[in-house]
Amino acid sequence: MRPADLRICKQEGRPIAVLTAWDALSAALVEQAGADVILVGDSLAMVVLGHATTLPVTLEEMILHTRAVGRGLQRPADQRPLIITDLPFLSYQCGADAAVAAAGQVLKDSPAAGVKLEGAEPETLQVVDRLVRSGIPVMGHLGLTPQSVHQLGYRRQAKDPISQERLKRQARDLQAAGCFALVLEHVPQELAADLSAELTLPVIGIGAGEQCDGQVRVTADLLGLTERQPPFCPPLLAGRELCITALRGWVAGLQPQPAPTPPTTPSTPAAPHC
Ligand code: KIV
Repeated sequence: MRPADLRICKQEGRPIAVLTAWDALSAALVEQAGADVILVGDSLAMVVLGHATTLPVTLEEMILHTRAVGRGLQRPADQRPLIITDLPFLSYQCGADAAVAAAGQVLKDSPAAGVKLEGAEPETLQVVDRLVRSGIPVMGHLGLTPQSVHQLGYRRQAKDPISQERLKRQARDLQAAGCFALVLEHVPQELAADLSAELTLPVIGIGAGEQCDGQVRVTADLLGLTERQPPFCPPLLAGRELCITALRGWVAGLQPQPAPTPPTTPSTPAAPHC
């Protein structure tokens, strides 16, 4: 799967399945599940590195995790899912040159075939344009953008007509700048449906209703492994509970078992009753 193939999926009405992975084990699982795209999302900062937000993860860490994801894939090269890696906070906000260097590093040092970045401010559009003209496929991300948590929180976005028009304009701008796909996170489903119908690039939703060209989920949320899942990502199973219960059983099995109580033999012969 290559970035351009996603447009073909959209044209043919084939829903695009995107799942996150962060290491070889999770990559093998989502590849075997049939995901079209593996996103090495910066959510790994929270899911597996234990940070409170996505902001602290570094470019080097994103590359390290992407390499591990690549090592986990087992299918022949031409049948593997497409790997896309998130550009972490501050790797593309300081200008197009720095962004090309960061994204180029991702493509040189890992099996990712493209990068994802958040937002569509004029500076970000310039970055997208430079990346695309440098041969680096870019996936956009609008709506709830976790790298802006200190401005937006984790709330649903684009709730009123003005912000919906703004988001539509930004989506069109990202398409014009050359993005090959667009993630829409936690926005009203009518808005996501309208954009999926209007844009030629595939719209991949999370918390954006079912009328998108594809869906993306954080795999650890879907498996119920994280402590709490966002309201728009209900778990498929109680993975955390299942794991803890199984592991507890194993730990308990190691504890010394009480020795079987021997049959009581009276130390002195019982006194005759008469
Ligand atoms: O980092 C991530 O996992 C993401 C998805 C939620 C789309 O950006």
